[in-house]
Amino acid sequence: MSSTIDSILVEHRVFSPSAKAVAGATVAGMESYKALCAEAEQDFNGFWTRMANEHLVWRKPFTKVLDESEAPFYTWFDDGELNVSENCLDVHLTNGNADKTALIFEADDGSVDKVTYRQLHARVCRIANGIKSLGYKKGDRAIIYLPMSIEAIACMQACARLGVIHSVVFGGFSAKSLHQRIVDVGAKLVITADAQLRGGRAIALKSAVDEALADEGGDIVQHVIVYKRAGSEVNWSGSRDVWLHELEDGQPDSCEAVAVEAEHPLFILYTSGSTGKPKGVQHASAGYLLWASLTTKWVFDVRPDDIFWCTADVGWVTGHSYIAYGTLAAGLTQIIFEGIPTYPHAGRFWEMIQRHKVSIFYTAPTAIRSLIKAAQADPDTHPQRYDLSSLRLLGSVGEPINPEAWIWYYQNVGQGRCPIVDTWWQTETGGHILSPLPGATPLKPGSCTLPLPGIITGVVDEAGNDVPQGRGGFLVIKRPWPAMIRTVWGDEERYKSSYFPTDLKGYYLAGDNAQRDADGYYWIMGRTDDVLSVSGHRLGGTEIESALVAHEKVAEAAVVGRPDATTGEAIVAFIMLKDPVPDGVQADALAKELRDWVAKEVGAIAKPRDIRFGNNLPKTRSGKILRRLLRVVAEGKEVTQDVSTLENPDVLKQFTGVY
Ligand code: WT7
Repeated sequence: MSSTIDSILVEHRVFSPSAKAVAGATVAGMESYKALCAEAEQDFNGFWTRMANEHLVWRKPFTKVLDESEAPFYTWFDDGELNVSENCLDVHLTNGNADKTALIFEADDGSVDKVTYRQLHARVCRIANGIKSLGYKKGDRAIIYLPMSIEAIACMQACARLGVIHSVVFGGFSAKSLHQRIVDVGAKLVITADAQLRGGRAIALKSAVDEALADEGGDIVQHVIVYKRAGSEVNWSGSRDVWLHELEDGQPDSCEAVAVEAEHPLFILYTSGSTGKPKGVQHASAGYLLWASLTTKWVFDVRPDDIFWCTADVGWVTGHSYIAYGTLAAGLTQIIFEGIPTYPHAGRFWEMIQRHKVSIFYTAPTAIRSLIKAAQADPDTHPQRYDLSSLRLLGSVGEPINPEAWIWYYQNVGQGRCPIVDTWWQTETGGHILSPLPGATPLKPGSCTLPLPGIITGVVDEAGNDVPQGRGGFLVIKRPWPAMIRTVWGDEERYKSSYFPTDLKGYYLAGDNAQRDADGYYWIMGRTDDVLSVSGHRLGGTEIESALVAHEKVAEAAVVGRPDATTGEAIVAFIMLKDPVPDGVQADALAKELRDWVAKEVGAIAKPRDIRFGNNLPKTRSGKILRRLLRVVAEGKEVTQDVSTLENPDVLKQFTGVY
């Protein structure tokens, strides 16, 4: 374990929940939290049985709870049956929520559209009927490549209603990345839009789908459903392409929700690992929904009149659990935002909180840090210029939040009144794992505090033994939980080797470094692998490297992260060219060419910030690239570590130019 981890300062300020936050909270006070934890520890299956019966509606009751016989391939509530969409929508038609607003959509241009639970249910049914009319059924896979919209959520729900397994691809990924996912998941259906509108611009989506599908002389899917969003021109394939509005037209407002087994895959979401191509993280229906809705209720401590806004995109897991599923199951009114935080000005988030009277706001540290900078540059965009009195609770997700950003968020957005829930979790965990409960947990800026009830976590060494308090180690989850990843789609070996390495006592390995303080609070110290976190987006260093070496002028490439005050990490690419190292204008031009290339191969979010050219890369005698040394160079620091394993120590001196 790196020694720097032990030296990171732990913040000592503590913010205890106010009497107001405790009163009426779902989990009120630390005693209630501890009682839930104790209940789970004393009777693990009994605890989860109670939760699954109280929080889900079953078509066929389950008799089995956790089955560990095929570990690490765990199953939950295996013989039960339910439908996820029924649990998110139909339940609200009879519990008094039918005419409650489900979604408030704010477009890039500021126009607003609302749907009630009844209207959303009808819309989902019409789309589901349409998808069914094209011949799709339970077990088929659909790719969803849509902008933030009511339609995106409705299409996810429509798939769930039919038992069609969806895989949402973030609109920022390129045609090539889309192609990879379509092929890997074996989708026969793609749902997309003509274009997405962000920051006053239309960015084409349909043309990226066309490009992704044109393969070896034929189409690899049967249908492309197209949502007309921007009214932009599109190429049309008469036999393959269908407008969403035409598909929905004339369809009945009801559609039988197909009961599926608890373990039926609800979705597959691709995420970056430390090696190889992105992994298709497979989630099950019942366990996933249980945890998504339970954590919504606990962590966001939801009340009937809340207006909830999670700023994530449905292309990421946060948008699955806390926009499309858990929050709907919990019956919340939610804001869906199409645009970007800085358009038409950097006060957009605060203005929207004011306009819609948002009470719970959930965003990423990278957004907070960039808005701090913007508010410093232009006081008109400062949160204090807006009426944020509706806010009751704030949340943070995706990366560690530094104490300074935490305090700024707390004081300026929450006005010293709103607890901040710093939620640690992953695509693979399906929902929150480490998080405060706003009516119970005393907060420490920068710490995601404690495991939620029913979740058993730890910090261990290479042999799976707990490390002493205050020492860095691997963050693990020691017992299975209902929303855990079930497998890597089509690759069981990779599931086992990535998450359950043989020497870790069967614990789930998260891939993060962490340490615990004297109160048992968790402090996340970053990844243990070559996964990068750029603006809260998880990217594989090796994916970007493979993209770079696929360029005709590149011989070898190594990609590392450099700490960045706003984006968390910035991508730095060390590149060895086939031709001699260029400089000046030539180097600038080549760096631009390579950035555009990465945008095309992976997506614009993966473009390297810095490019450094050299004649060779630092390697051990056995040929392994020493990325830890490159990280030091990337930061502009002098290498003081031992370089004796390097084949040629002088190699580090060549990367002087930054392009
Ligand atoms: C990785 C998972 C969780 C949904 C969005 C990201 C980092 C996530 C926190 C947090 C410190 C965090 C971890 C984790 N991370 N939340 N509150 N504090 N780090 O999901 O793309 O699967 O990324 O994000 O490194 O492993 P993801």
